[in-house]
Amino acid sequence: MSPADLYADAEFYDLLHDGYRDDLGFYRGLAEDHGGPVLELGAGSGRVTVALARTGVDVVAVEPSAAMRARGTARLTAGDLAASVAWVDADMRTLALGRTFPLVVAPFHALMHLTTLDDQDAALRAARAHVAAGGAFATDVYVPRFAADGVVRVEPDWAGLEGDLSTWQHVDPVAQTVVTEHRLDRVGADGLVRRRAVRLHQRYYQRFELERALRAAGFGRVRTFGGFDRGPVTRDARTWAFLAFP
Ligand SMILES: C[S@@+](CC[C@H](N)C(=O)[O-])C[C@H]1O[C@@H](n2cnc3c(N)ncnc32)[C@H](O)[C@@H]1O
Repeated sequence: MSPADLYADAEFYDLLHDGYRDDLGFYRGLAEDHGGPVLELGAGSGRVTVALARTGVDVVAVEPSAAMRARGTARLTAGDLAASVAWVDADMRTLALGRTFPLVVAPFHALMHLTTLDDQDAALRAARAHVAAGGAFATDVYVPRFAADGVVRVEPDWAGLEGDLSTWQHVDPVAQTVVTEHRLDRVGADGLVRRRAVRLHQRYYQRFELERALRAAGFGRVRTFGGFDRGPVTRDARTWAFLAFP
């Protein structure tokens, strides 16, 4: 059985990433500085959406996966925030809402799902078109540093999974792509092990490649940070966070 696309199994996505908090302060701070409404590209199951809405801004959340939108809606309803968020079933490459926002964000590597230069350019141009004068676009990507290719590694520290998680990655340095597979093995009451597997395809970026792409899309000024604390880029940075201004 081939693994499901990660975003078709939104429950698995949340098992893996719900506890990730590193980026929330960064995006929340931007919403506080710029005000709303905020346009979020690749809003997924609403992890960042909730944090944004809690600052008091309205959010337009663009997400093409029905499974992710459904979990996002449930999460916002549970947090009594549903009225602050409008979900849009759309693709960031072709987005044309006909309005602008003081803040547009594409959190948690969302741009890494754009696997061709045309797709990247189209999405960044669309992001630029939705930023109001005086506004900003913020995004982040992980620094491409990978473990041994094709080797399955056990992830003992992933909390709350009630099972054994292992991860396998294959990097193609020519195509500049990475395929990641997560497998969760759980022992059922009958003593049998059941495996749930998801796969994710990404194209990774180099720092200046994305800065150049942002400029080419019409952003006049780009700032790059070595993490969500807005510190400088250092050689041991794990994430690059970008702020781009018209
Ligand atoms: C890594 S997840 C981030 C989800 C959420 N922002 C978070 O922080 O947990 C990336 C999301 O981007 C969405 N996505 C992928 N391609 C997209 C596209 N072309 N347009 C809009 N969203 C896309 C995926 O469905 C997925 O939900």
